[in-house]
Order: sequence, then structure tokens, then C-alpha cells
Amino acid sequence: MSAPHEYDFLVVGTGIAGLTFALKAARHGRVAILSKKTGEASNTAWAQGGVSCVLSPDDSFDQHIADTLDAGAGLCDEKAVRAIISEGPERIAELIRLGVKFSQKPGAPPGDFDLGIEGGHTRRRILHQGDQTGLEIATHLLAAARAEKNIILLEGYYAIDLITTGKLGYAQEDRCLGLYALDQNIGDVKTFRSDRVILATGGSGRVYQYTTNPEVATGDGVAMAWRAGVTIANMEFIQFHPTCLFHPQKRSFLISEALRGEGGVLVGADGQPFMHKYDRRENLAPRDIVARAIDREIKKTGSKCVFLDITSKPRAWLEDRFPHIFQTLMNLGIDMSKEPIPVVPAAHYQCGGVQTNLDGATSLRGLWAVGEVACTGLHGANRLASNSLLEGAVMGHRAVEDVLQKEPLPARHPREFSLDPWISGDAQDVDELVVIYHNWDEIRRLMWDYVSIVRTSKRLQRAATRLRTLQKEVQEFYWGYRVTAEVLELRNLVQVAALIVDSAHSRHESRGAHCTLDYPEIDDAHFKKNTLLWRV
Ligand code: SIN
Repeated sequence: MSAPHEYDFLVVGTGIAGLTFALKAARHGRVAILSKKTGEASNTAWAQGGVSCVLSPDDSFDQHIADTLDAGAGLCDEKAVRAIISEGPERIAELIRLGVKFSQKPGAPPGDFDLGIEGGHTRRRILHQGDQTGLEIATHLLAAARAEKNIILLEGYYAIDLITTGKLGYAQEDRCLGLYALDQNIGDVKTFRSDRVILATGGSGRVYQYTTNPEVATGDGVAMAWRAGVTIANMEFIQFHPTCLFHPQKRSFLISEALRGEGGVLVGADGQPFMHKYDRRENLAPRDIVARAIDREIKKTGSKCVFLDITSKPRAWLEDRFPHIFQTLMNLGIDMSKEPIPVVPAAHYQCGGVQTNLDGATSLRGLWAVGEVACTGLHGANRLASNSLLEGAVMGHRAVEDVLQKEPLPARHPREFSLDPWISGDAQDVDELVVIYHNWDEIRRLMWDYVSIVRTSKRLQRAATRLRTLQKEVQEFYWGYRVTAEVLELRNLVQVAALIVDSAHSRHESRGAHCTLDYPEIDDAHFKKNTLLWRV
């Protein structure tokens, strides 16, 4: 049995939140960052729109807070909203010092940024780098992390489960001691020990058949935390982005909301705008409203998609402002300067997650969660566009101080607990991979058909019943066979799907991103509260 790998800080995930944490923690001790693929594979790297931040003289923290609370449909934690928004400018200044570049107004002096606007915002406050803002941020953070001698980036390491005193059978207060991870480079499970474990695993968009998320977004952090008995909040609030490209060759390609911010108009197959029928803010209404409007139009007209028309803008301007989208569409034979873009809603963001306080601390001692995996209270029932990169940067920073205060260095947690080695099932049957892929497809289709933009109690019940059976099947794979990344992903996916369904089932109202035909109204008297779940 090999000794556990020990680090002062163990970070799982390489998005903005995890890397921000790691870079700051590295000033105090040794950090290992685990990435199940490569460091480059994160939701952050795919973010197009940008980072919301109060920078313009005609904007204010209060206005940004008001917009966030409005989008969040009564469920935001106002203290979290205020703290995260007001710390934004400092974190943005740090990113700029690291070399991140945001688009400037043409010919303007340095620092005079070209601020964008998206749905739900009443002011221009979105910093962007063309339409690849996340990639710009991720590239700089990752380069800094790779250059930092106190950080080791372990790529191809799939975190399996948290190790806790409770799971090991100790009677003391439950706390996190580390985790098991599959080293996919050699196919072996390794034990990692740390008194400071930080989940920064991103969201769970891949639980749905249609999503704007990359392949890595399989809800690993939420599933791991759930299995360790940590409190999970508000998983029913899955945000659907209104405008994912509708094209057979490119199913997960986002058409940024910034297009609507710059004058793009949603139209039906008949070329007629329709958003005025649904909200006075029309194309710039919050996302939940726009996604539901599109869903309604598609169902009403029987068409497969709607269209986003930005042909009012000159070609050269579009090429400059949205270079990535413009080129990607051109490669598919769509000239956005001449024709409307076919779009459909798709799963985009997990507004709930592992419940944390304003320092990223979870209900389990020794475990923190930052970024999309966490539920801080910023997003409430529906996230305001471009608030997530902001949250990642702020929470990655805030968590460091809390971790150091609660689990100070150099003093280590006494080594009174010995960590059990991983016991692996050794049966291997490649034929079973077919079953895994089948189950994977079934979960994603079932979630799309029964648990997406508009829900009903009956559909949720159906989904719950089927998911229970699938969970049993997946559990058999997990125990009987050597673990593989496929089995681990499937196990997490089915767990997160069940959490979404259970949360949705318990909310008898429609609010923000949760809409059910059986309870079409908001019910403040009974449901103006978070949905909390934990494993007993
Ligand atoms: C977008 O560019 O539309 C996505 C922005 C976000 O999800 O915050």
C-alpha cells in the first residue's frame, strides 16, 4: 500500500475560482490542483459574454445589486450579492495585473473599457475580450499556475470521493481528510491527504441532452459532496441559455447574449419579433423569461428553432466584436451579417450547488467550494448574466483567508486518523461500456424531456422513478468493476440528475429557472426559501 500524497491545499478544478484560489494559497503552502482532463478544459474557458463589474460612472453597486436581485426572483442572499459585487473591481484589477486584456473602446486611453450589456442588466457593465473572455482569463491564470513552484497541476486525475472521518468510522466531529482520485495516466486510484480541500469543479450542464457546457461539466463536485453528507442547495434552478446554436454539426455552441445586448432581435420562422409579447424588456429580459418565451414559441408554431437577427449591424463591426462566433458560423455556412442565426435554448448554468457561506465554507469541516459548484446565494433562482466569472474571482480570493484562519499553517491537523487505501473491484468487461453509454444517453434525454424549461409533477415523478433504477445499475458497475472515468462520470451524472429532480419536485411554485405547469405562480408564503438536501 503506498502512502497518501500529502498537500497543504487540494484544489479540484481549473476554472477561474479554483485557479484564483490556488495562486493565492500558493503563497502559504504547497497546492495540488487536480484536473480530470487538462487544465484547459473548464467552463471558464468557454465563457463568451464576459465579467460583470461596476466600472462606469453612470453605474453603481446599488444598481448592479438591484439587477441581480431582480433576476434572482426573490431567492438571492442580499449580503452575498452586496459582498461579491462590491469586491469586483479589486479582483478585476488583479486579473489585469496578471496580463488579462479586456476590449477597449476604439482609440480610447488604457482602462477605458468597451462595456457590454446583457439580459437583466440596466447598465453597460460587462467587461469582455471580444467574444472569448473566459479563454483570455483562463489562459493567464493557467500560465501563472503552471509557473508557480508551489503548485503542482495533476492532469488526468479524476477525483472519485471525499475521505471523511465519518466514512472512516471515527466518532469525532465529521471532517474532510482528503480524497481518492483515479490517475487516468496509469489507471490506478491514489489517496490524497489534505486538511484543506477545495471543490472548484464547475457545473453539471452535461446532465442534459442539449447544453452549452463542455464535456467536463458532469456535476462531479456536487455528487461527491452529496455522498459525503454535505448540504446541497437549490439544484432545481438550472438556467437554460436562450440562444444555443441550432445546427446538426455543432450542438453546444453558444451564441452569446451580448449579441442581444448589441441589438440582436429574436424572431420566429416568419421573421417576426416575438419578445414584446412576453416582457417589457423584450430581448433583454432576464434569461429565464427569454428561454421560456422561446420554448413557448417553438411549441406553439411547431418549428424546430427560432432565429437571432443581428443583420442590422455592419459585417466589419460584427467581425470585430464577435470574431469567434462570426468565424464559427461562417465555417458552418452561416453569414450572420446577412441572415438570422438559428437558435434554441440549452442547459447552461447550475444556479444551486454545494451550499457555502460567504467564504466558501461548506457544512463539512475541511471542505470549501467555490465557483459554479457552490451555492453562495448570489444567483438565487436565476443567475444574472456574466455574474459567474465575477463570483469565481471573488470567492476564490475570499476562501483563501477563511481556509488559513480555520485550518492554519504550518500547524497541521493531528495525524490521528489513518486513511484507508482504496479497494478496487477487479472485474473488467469491455462489453459493459455499451451499457454505460446507453445509460448516459438515457439520463441526458430523460432530463431534457422531463426536467427542462417547463416541468410538470407527473414528468418529474417519471424521471425520479427511472433515475432510481438507473442509480442501482450504476452502483453495480461502480462496485463490481475497476473504476474508469466513464463509470465515475456516469455515477456523478445520475446522482446530480436525481438531486435536480428531487429539488424540483419539492418546490410547488414557479420561480426563476424552475417553472412547473402544476404550480404556475410564485408562492412567497411557502417557498421563499432555499431547497436544502443532504444525505443522512
Ligand atoms: C453569454 O455570453 O451569453 C454567456 C454569459 C453568461 O452565461 O454569463
